[in-house]
Amino acid sequence: RIQAVIFDLDGVLVHTDRYHYEAWQQLADEEGISFDVSINDRLRGVSRMESLDIILEKSLRSYTKSEKEALADRKNGYYRELLHQLTPSDAADSAVSCIDSCRRHGVKIAIGSSSRNTPIILERIGLAHAFDAIADGNQIARSKPDPEVFLLAAQQLGVDPAHCLVVEDAEAGLAAAERAGMSKAAIGAAYESPLADFRLRSLAELAGILFE
Ligand code: G6P
Ligand code: MG
Repeated sequence: RIQAVIFDLDGVLVHTDRYHYEAWQQLADEEGISFDVSINDRLRGVSRMESLDIILEKSLRSYTKSEKEALADRKNGYYRELLHQLTPSDAADSAVSCIDSCRRHGVKIAIGSSSRNTPIILERIGLAHAFDAIADGNQIARSKPDPEVFLLAAQQLGVDPAHCLVVEDAEAGLAAAERAGMSKAAIGAAYESPLADFRLRSLAELAGILFE
């Protein structure tokens, strides 16, 4: 039985994945690096610095470590600017009702995100206090597809990984959940992934998996 659900944040509970895309696109344009939606899909679930490394694969020049840090900071500045417009109405469709129904059924809920901006995003969409545990990019050494963030969430919840279900929009996230020994529900960009145990067109469908 599933005792806990661990939600990815960007692209699952809130569509900040669009803002990540926009901010990386701006940086890539300014640096004259080609970038598109298929490269962007590879950045889902991946840390800021590793995302930059993927983008720089298309660069014609090489960058020093401190130049790369400056680029990552610049992208984060653009991204943070976009986050200002977030309000509670930006939580994904059915996110709040899905969280409420987990609560009513005694299923614990957590966040498992690679993002260091997790606290500010949860605050802005009004879900800062909605979860039993929050594991994010500020607390881990290795980002998805490493299982660290999901194992940390399970540990904080006190639930065996085998009884956790992860909800993910990233291939890297599904791979991380697999390595953590958790069940996997895919949504959005990961919908077609072969790693998925379940496929969700919307978070509203989660109840069908959990409470049947
Ligand atoms: C999430 C997103 C990634 C992002 C990463 C780091 O996993 O899916 O696209 O690169 O978080 O986000 P941050 O907010 O710390 O730059
Ligand atoms: Mg995501």
